[in-house]
Amino acid sequence: MDLLIKGGTVVTAESTFKADVAVTNGKISAIGSNLKADKNTEVVDAKGKLVLPGAIDGHTHLAMPFGGTISTDDYYDGTKSAACGGTTTVFDFILQQKGEPMLDAIKRRDALAAPDAAVDYSFHIGVSDVTTPELLDSMEDAVKFGIPSFKVFMVYDFGVDDGSFYQVLQKAAKIGALVGVHAENRDVNNVLIAQYLAEGKTDAWWHYMSKNESVEGEADVRAINLAKMAGTSLYIVHLANKQGMEAVRAARDEGYPIFAETCPQYLYFTSEVYKRERARDFVCSPPMKNKESQDAIWAGIKSGDIATVATDHCPFTQAEKDWGITKPDGTPGNFTTIPNGCAGIENMYPYMLSEANKGRITFNKAVELCATNPSKLFGLDYCKGALRVGLDADIVLYDPKKNFTITNAAMHGATDHTIWEGAKLKGYPVATYCRGKLVFKDGEFLGKRGEGKLIKCKPIKLKTPEL
Ligand code: URP
Ligand code: ZN
Ligand code: ZN
Repeated sequence: MDLLIKGGTVVTAESTFKADVAVTNGKISAIGSNLKADKNTEVVDAKGKLVLPGAIDGHTHLAMPFGGTISTDDYYDGTKSAACGGTTTVFDFILQQKGEPMLDAIKRRDALAAPDAAVDYSFHIGVSDVTTPELLDSMEDAVKFGIPSFKVFMVYDFGVDDGSFYQVLQKAAKIGALVGVHAENRDVNNVLIAQYLAEGKTDAWWHYMSKNESVEGEADVRAINLAKMAGTSLYIVHLANKQGMEAVRAARDEGYPIFAETCPQYLYFTSEVYKRERARDFVCSPPMKNKESQDAIWAGIKSGDIATVATDHCPFTQAEKDWGITKPDGTPGNFTTIPNGCAGIENMYPYMLSEANKGRITFNKAVELCATNPSKLFGLDYCKGALRVGLDADIVLYDPKKNFTITNAAMHGATDHTIWEGAKLKGYPVATYCRGKLVFKDGEFLGKRGEGKLIKCKPIKLKTPEL
């Protein structure tokens, strides 16, 4: 036995109990009362602490070329920051290039990730080109390799049309893959952008208005219908609106395997942020929505219709956000020239656990949303996402008494600001172990560049709304 975490309160998605946790060769080797250390075992006193599975962030964009630049955190900075917020596995998005077979896309991005990642990682593939049978068929190579999840964008210039989306869904049903979707109505978004700009409405508020509740909700409904038609499961990423939430609930009530992810920024902020002085820092897609939508998403968490919480971490510098005022070439900018995305990779688990500590949800629910459900959905519950003998020893020690105010200075990524500045959390992670190795302790990153490994996922076959 290498490590013995003694006297803590173990929290899983299902239960809470006092127990010791033993780790041998990077795996959980025993969970029980009064476990005895060997001669060389390191013993950690966890009295008064919660012992949790490390979080799995199912949605990040590290070093991603986007919005005329590259997101600020590379695979090192992003995974280092993740570790310091109790996240031990991140799923990053590969953007397939036009004409690129899926396996080539995986290899291209893994060449960047492998030398740098400080915690374990895996990928989803953002599909941009399935216009030939060979490209569509190459999805199966990705599944066989261990990357069985794909994302389709209904917006952006690299997004696909409904025909390609439908083909991806059909293919996924045959090969054991899960399709995620960024659902926003591109055509309506473009019409509204043109109208607002023609009227001289250029600030970040109009980003929200051009991607308002209905622009997202309509696309959610359409995406669910396409999945039903193709007879396959669907995972709606970063869900932020009430209409979409209701459509997800209705489909699930009918027995369809429809799953939804939301993000802490939609649970904490509303569209009011687009009235702030630096509203451009909050520009992300989908934008934050009104209070009614926020309440609906919280209700979805409580009812079980939100399956996961992930960050959509995609930071840019304030200088880049300022392109909404003046573009890099010196000409006037507007809300469409602000790179979309915000930092959040270090804040997800602390925020959700703090909400549990404040009594809004249970700790078990926070674990389910941030660790156990992502592992089940993405095909890695054979090794991660829970505290069980035989699984990777990805473990977080959480001090429910340690209060924490988020500041950018206290974060560990490369970003120069955080939309979470000043947010007050009740309780905070004090230690993170990745496969039994201490990577974070008391505010300090202790891991190493390149120590994270690529986790291969099993094929995904979701036939019902239950996980
Ligand atoms: O604003 C965001 N979310 N940027 C990242 C790309 C995406 O749509 O997920
Ligand atoms: Zn997206
Ligand atoms: Zn995203």
